[in-house]
Amino acid sequence: MKTINVLFVCLGNICRSPLAEALFKHKVNERGWSKYFYADSCGTSNYHIGDPPDRRTIANARKNGIEINHRGRQLSRDDFNRFDYILAMDKENYADIAALARGISLNDKLFLMRHFDPQASGTEVPDPYYGNEEGFQQVFDILDRSLEGFLDYLAVKHSLPHEHLKR
Ligand code: 4NP
Repeated sequence: MKTINVLFVCLGNICRSPLAEALFKHKVNERGWSKYFYADSCGTSNYHIGDPPDRRTIANARKNGIEINHRGRQLSRDDFNRFDYILAMDKENYADIAALARGISLNDKLFLMRHFDPQASGTEVPDPYYGNEEGFQQVFDILDRSLEGFLDYLAVKHSLPHEHLKR
């Protein structure tokens, strides 16, 4: 069976998108859906290729019960064929993704992550890089809500089984 392939994209691939990837995998596992999905993350920039996630992101994720395992990589045009869903953290990421994809249709594939935030107090997952711990926790909370909304959307769209294995 072909997996549903999901790619999370931010600028550096060391703060927002590796956390989104790890939290998504955690939630997928909680719902008993691991066999249906493949997930990855990348950055629009080449700033942090091969780098581990930002230590503040790792620490904040751990505080919230999530372990992150990832090395930075840059988005490439191959990703537009390999992935079924591409989630952009902010509008600049979204525009950069769309620009790289010129000539390839991203209809029903490219979304802003916060499109799925039920408490959408904004449209972007803010870049926490130049901020403090409060900013990292805010990113965590936004992703937590948005990913639940995204998974509920996928459940309907792909008729995923209802029997959650929530612990
Ligand atoms: P991210 O955060 O896009 O969430 O990974 C950033 C990480 C690094 C930089 C900017 C944003 N940077 O300029 O190096």
